[in-house]
Amino acid sequence: MKDNQTPNYGLDAPIAVRNMLIFAVLGISLLVARLLGVWSRQDAIAVVARPLMLAGISFGVMALWMIYDSKVGKIREREVYLDQIDWNGNERVLDVGCGLGLFLIGAAKRLSTGRAVGIDKWQQEDLLGNNAEGTLRNAMIEGVVDKVEVHTGDARQLPFADSSFDVVLSSMALHNIYSADERQIAVREIARVLAPGGRVLIVDVRHTSAYAATLRDAGLSDARCVQGMFSYLITLITFGAAGWGYVIGSKVSPASAPKE
Ligand SMILES: C[S@@+](CC[C@H](N)C(=O)[O-])C[C@H]1O[C@@H](n2cnc3c(N)ncnc32)[C@H](O)[C@@H]1O
Repeated sequence: MKDNQTPNYGLDAPIAVRNMLIFAVLGISLLVARLLGVWSRQDAIAVVARPLMLAGISFGVMALWMIYDSKVGKIREREVYLDQIDWNGNERVLDVGCGLGLFLIGAAKRLSTGRAVGIDKWQQEDLLGNNAEGTLRNAMIEGVVDKVEVHTGDARQLPFADSSFDVVLSSMALHNIYSADERQIAVREIARVLAPGGRVLIVDVRHTSAYAATLRDAGLSDARCVQGMFSYLITLITFGAAGWGYVIGSKVSPASAPKE
């Protein structure tokens, strides 16, 4: 690391975190008022105040967890995800929706002669302080700026030729495309730019089984979605709205394709 600076990979979903913190302040204020005897269970206002208090406190816990995950958790988890790929060091890597470079830079650190390319449309609502300069600054701090390049573009129309990359990564990006058809287009783009023999790793909070199905349909026959017990619990609690997981798959290379 250069100059003792720390990389800043940004706060995910800053608007959602802000709204949850507003609810948390409301919930905590109601709790304090309850403890001070301003209202009690017998009061008519309790019908509204109790659920608001409980929801506010739950949102507060969730917001604190999201802040912790953005600052500490996701940097540790990145390594676990990147370990799913068998690295040679000479790969051409693409990170779709790279943001401030969490996976892009993690991959670049595993390269010797290879190169890591990031592409993003820099949506501020998805990541606080999201911009290409920030990504390159992080790459500089992490000592890999010479292996990294950053482009502006959309996952649904990747400006790269077919079979350009040996590894394609995407982390917490594709769920931000709200239409299922358009997410499918983005996943097909990932399959298109992947070279034969190349590997894909998509991490997301939702839709991972749909991504795996699209990849299989695009010829990555071993693509599969992996979810841990914690993810199943989150899926259950949120009635399917969230469900952490990752998709891993590879494109058959002509050498390993079964002979007719
Ligand atoms: C929550 S951030 C995750 C950033 C980074 N991959 C990480 O794991 O920290 C989601 C990123 O996806 C990007 N994004 C959303 N929709 C996109 C699209 N259609 N094409 C390219 N990037 C997109 C956003 O701009 C944002 O940088």
